[in-house]
Formats: sequence, C-alpha cells, structure tokens
Amino acid sequence: MSAMLSVRDVSAGYGGRMIVEGVSLDVPAGQIVAVIGHNGAGKSTLLKAVFNLLPGRRGRVRLGDTVLDGLAPQRLLAAGLAYVPQERSTFPKLTIAENLRMGAYLLDDAALIAERTERVLALFPALRARLGQLAGTLSGGEQRMLEIARTLLVAPRAVMLDEPSIGLAPKMVDTVFDTARRLAGQGVAVLVVEQNVRKVLAAADTGIVMEMGRIVLADSAASLRSDDRVARLYLGAAGRAFSAPAHP
Ligand SMILES: Nc1ncnc2c1ncn2[C@@H]1O[C@H](COP(=O)(O)OP(=O)(O)OP(=O)(O)O)[C@@H](O)[C@H]1O
Ligand SMILES: [Mg+2]
Repeated sequence: MSAMLSVRDVSAGYGGRMIVEGVSLDVPAGQIVAVIGHNGAGKSTLLKAVFNLLPGRRGRVRLGDTVLDGLAPQRLLAAGLAYVPQERSTFPKLTIAENLRMGAYLLDDAALIAERTERVLALFPALRARLGQLAGTLSGGEQRMLEIARTLLVAPRAVMLDEPSIGLAPKMVDTVFDTARRLAGQGVAVLVVEQNVRKVLAAADTGIVMEMGRIVLADSAASLRSDDRVARLYLGAAGRAFSAPAHP
C-alpha cells in the first residue's frame, strides 16, 4: 500500500544540535503507526520536525502527492496534515463550541462547518453534551478529546498525536485509542507517539522504536507485542506499562 504520510531521512534539532537523525517512516491511509521510546528519545522532536516547526530541518515529507517541506503550519493543515502536540493546546477561556470554531478557521463555508462539526461531535458525545462549557474547566481527558476534535474539522488525511493518553484515567485512555482506531477506519493515516506501550501496540498496525533520535526497531505491532526487547525495555518485568523517566 502506498503511504499517505511519507517521511524520508528527516533530521532536526534545536539551535544546531541534532536530536532526530535520518528518520524515515510511512503511514498508510487507514493505519495507525505508533512511535515508542524512552523519555528524551526524540519522539516529540520528530513530530515537530515533520510539522515544519524546527528551523533547519532536513529530509523530505510528503502527504499523498503533496510535498510538505517548507510549508507553514496553516498550509500543512490546509493540505490535510493535523497535529496535536504533547502540551495542552485548548483555549481555556473559550467554550467548547468556540474552540471547535477556532479549528474551522481555515473553512469559510458555513454549511460545511456545520456539517463537519456535526460529524466530529458524533465521535465525541461528551463534548456535545457541554458545548457551552469553558474548555479550561474540562477534565484532562475531555481537553484531549477537544484538541483531537478541533483538528478533525479540517477533515485531515493524516493526524499526528503526541502522547494523547498522558495523564488520563484508564477509561479515558481507552476512549482515546478507540477514537484513533475509528479515524483510521475512516481512512485517515494516524501517527501516534505514546508512553503507554501496551495500549498503543494493541491499537496500532505498526510500531516504531526510537532511541537517541534514531529508529532502532520497526515491525508490525503484533510482532512488537511479543518482542522480548520491547517487553524488557518498555513494558517492565511485571508487565506494567512503561512510565518512569529513562534518565536516572
Ligand atoms: N525546545 C528545546 N530546546 C532544546 N532542546 C530540546 C527542546 N525540546 C526538546 N529538547 C531536547 O531534545 C531531546 C528529545 O526531546 P523530545 O521532547 O523530542 O523527547 P521525547 O521522546 O518526546 O520525550 P518524552 O517522552 O519525555 O516526551 C531531549 O534531550 C530534550 O532535552
Ligand atoms: Mg515527547
């Protein structure tokens, strides 16, 4: 299958210090690719690099036939690539409805906005129930949902999620991964960075392990689920999801 999101030989860092080096990966339409790795491995840096947020980035990124290199974030969004960063990114003083409208700022067709909003809210009943509530008063999980919902208003062809489950209660974690699966079911290419290795490998089609800015292992999620190295390094002896910092 040809890749929807194609990343080729991407290197990037901060202020001339390279963090991510020579990373290539493909995310086919309708599939979830999970990136796992210890704290500081460069996972967030990789997503920022793909989203053209790091000056001096090298390599090539394509979405379908569109070359994304050098495009500003709004242009990337317009081209169909959405990104939910690891940090919270809702507008706390705005309501859910207003936050969603911000996500639709690239659209100028009121009927289309209404239709898309309706479709997105069907995925997130908890948000529909409180459209007038200020985003800042939502639980962490609800805010994550809102961030994801907001990016879906542009009907992206590919979505990058950085640690979508961080800080969420177990039930909410399941909801997040269900949502990712449903997006993939609609043909979206999903690239997700996760510390919850067990959950993400259960939801993903492919897994990629990053260490020190490089890909050290890439395989089907099923193979990685039964890979000794993954179990030892990322799942812990007791089978607990990895959660401790890598650096002593
Ligand atoms: N804005 C920044 N300026 C300088 N160095 C940074 C910056 N952001 C991250 N780094 C460094 O880049 C390296 C990789 O960080 P990154 O955030 O990509 O890791 P990560 O794999 O996402 O980790 P985590 O699992 O903790 O989120 C780290 O050594 C970090 O200190
Ligand atoms: Mg990170």
